[in-house]
Amino acid sequence: MARRKKLYEGKAKILYEGPEPGTLVQHFKDDATAFNAEKRDVIEGKGVLNNRLSEFFMDGLNTIGVPTHFIRRINMREQLIRSVEIIPLEVIVRNRAAGSICKRLGIPEGEALPRPIVEFSFKNDELGDPLVSEEHIIAFGWASQQDLDDMVALALRVNDFLSGVMLAVGIRLIDFKIEIGRIWDGDFQRLVVADEISPDSCRLWDIKSGDKLDKDVFRQDIGNLAEAYTEVARRLGVLPAMATQMTKPHLIN
Ligand code: TMP
Ligand code: ASP
Repeated sequence: MARRKKLYEGKAKILYEGPEPGTLVQHFKDDATAFNAEKRDVIEGKGVLNNRLSEFFMDGLNTIGVPTHFIRRINMREQLIRSVEIIPLEVIVRNRAAGSICKRLGIPEGEALPRPIVEFSFKNDELGDPLVSEEHIIAFGWASQQDLDDMVALALRVNDFLSGVMLAVGIRLIDFKIEIGRIWDGDFQRLVVADEISPDSCRLWDIKSGDKLDKDVFRQDIGNLAEAYTEVARRLGVLPAMATQMTKPHLIN
């Protein structure tokens, strides 16, 4: 059997050439990294959970008319996606203060922000994904003013959707990061949500207990990451049997 061509390997995912032109296969690994890969581990089952969760969120977004790169899930760890030209920015939406905004601006963790705040970071591991302003983005040609307006609108629609879905299962969406890609149709481009949406790229707190159910569990060493992600998947009704067996045997029956 012919080997698939690997196009890119990142910290948590691998991209392979897809079966048709304009498609790729996105493979979710079990690797967890934080602080620009200074902290690493392999969390058995994480890739399976993130594949399912990202499918769930992207599918929901497609259904409500927010375009994404997601086509369909192929197997436990892989999904078929549209090949896009990734804009080299991380688009972050914050509803409450956590993580870097607390350090940067001295805001206490958990404080509600006056409105959702959209931030951009330049995707560059060597520089540690620095925060950039719209001035930088336009001056350096990473995106146009129109792209920026479209990216903010897209990010806020994702925020509304994700906040609602999570609230319905007793989880508060504190913040999240998305990546956005361009799809070309002749000379016309469309912006779509790309990469992944999972507890690796969101902050999710249980509304009652305040427990963290996202990658901060790993970043801050405050519990079992696979159990936290399994809990998110369970509440959303997205529980792959295998991952359940791997992470929480007592949940199967
Ligand atoms: P931050 O508070 O560390 O800037 O993170 C903001 C959001 O972005 C949070 O939901 C975690 C997510 N994130 C990523 O997805 N990848 C990253 O490399 C970083 C630093 C944060
Ligand atoms: N994904 C980033 C890394 O590996 C950072 C993070 O999510 O905290 O280094």
